[in-house]
Amino acid sequence: MNIEKIRNEFPFLDAEKTGKKVIYLDSAATSQKPLSVINAQADYYKYSNANPHRGSHYLSWKATEVYEKTREKIRNFINANRPEEIIYTRNATESLNLLAYSYASENLKEGDEILISILEHHANLVPWQRVAKEKGAVLKYVYLNEDFSLDYNQLRDKITNKTKIVAITASSNVTGEMTDVKKITKLAHEVGAISIVDACQLAAHKAIDVKDIDCDFLAFSGHKMYAPLGIGILFGKYSLLENLKPYNLGGDMIEYVYEQESTFAKPAQRFEAGTQDVGGVVGLSAAIDFINEIGIDNIYEHENELVRYAYDLIKDIDNIKIFFPEKRNTGSVLSFAFCDIHPHDIASILDMNGIAVRSGHHCAMPLHTYLGVSSTCRASFAIYNTKEEVEYFAKELKNVRKVMGL
Ligand code: ALA
Repeated sequence: MNIEKIRNEFPFLDAEKTGKKVIYLDSAATSQKPLSVINAQADYYKYSNANPHRGSHYLSWKATEVYEKTREKIRNFINANRPEEIIYTRNATESLNLLAYSYASENLKEGDEILISILEHHANLVPWQRVAKEKGAVLKYVYLNEDFSLDYNQLRDKITNKTKIVAITASSNVTGEMTDVKKITKLAHEVGAISIVDACQLAAHKAIDVKDIDCDFLAFSGHKMYAPLGIGILFGKYSLLENLKPYNLGGDMIEYVYEQESTFAKPAQRFEAGTQDVGGVVGLSAAIDFINEIGIDNIYEHENELVRYAYDLIKDIDNIKIFFPEKRNTGSVLSFAFCDIHPHDIASILDMNGIAVRSGHHCAMPLHTYLGVSSTCRASFAIYNTKEEVEYFAKELKNVRKVMGL
């Protein structure tokens, strides 16, 4: 794998154009985009733009074709059974809200339980809070072991006959743990619950096989996997999607519309009301080609090497605490805090040296409360990062203490 060649694909690395050399360690928030994605989207708007499914003219056919062909490409990417199981949304957040509204609000009753983990980011947490309140259901959490790893014994104990939904991240955006979603799904199915996988932090980093996992639903965002902002995916087993009520109502999701009532299209169209983001779909298609060309296993190996290297380089810095379950399978994020420096100060000092990390609660406030910190700093890695960047980051992180006079 030629990382320099891959880096040449990313215009943000051109310091003359950005005005500053940037070491981008914030890909868990959103990844940078390769030229192939940027150009594919621009070409769509230049030469193929029209409203899909709505015209019998050449450009509308072209837009429809790319829209549906990409659905098939995504089916293949996650090994779903059929393209109708792939629903376009704006992002994983919308995918999960759709499930809370269309599935949970229809199927839960008082006393039923939804099980999530304390690792969840708000997208896989706040929608469940609301539906639990509305239905009188109970939202339960699985917590962590001392080493910040997910406690599977607790998970096993908390899945009971009352559990109707188990919704767990496939990879934490804070600790980086890649959970065993196949095992979790099996436990959920044993009690008749459905399994929802939040694959936001997985899709760009490790192969997804929904048939092998056997999950009922799975959500991810395009923008964290080299695609444009504003396009996301919800996978659902067709037998479940068939019985779901639509989330948004309007054009293109109907079968017949009468003055007082309507009937709805079959999945996936039933869940794609209104004019969709075809430009985003085209970008997502190019992003999948980009990932496939490099090979997702190669990406995983490269990022894993970087994150482990970074961990080794920073773990002995004075007063650092790293929330990293090193014995588990982990993704490409590393969250840490100093007991005597605020994470925003760390991020600002690193930024002065051209290093972009995220500081804050990373949309995972309950997890931070549980960890006993209000915020952390997070370095997250992608295919365009190098070992030299990791070394520079570690050196500058050590230097932060000096800058703060410590
Ligand atoms: N969930 C995104 C993150 O982890 C925004 O930064």
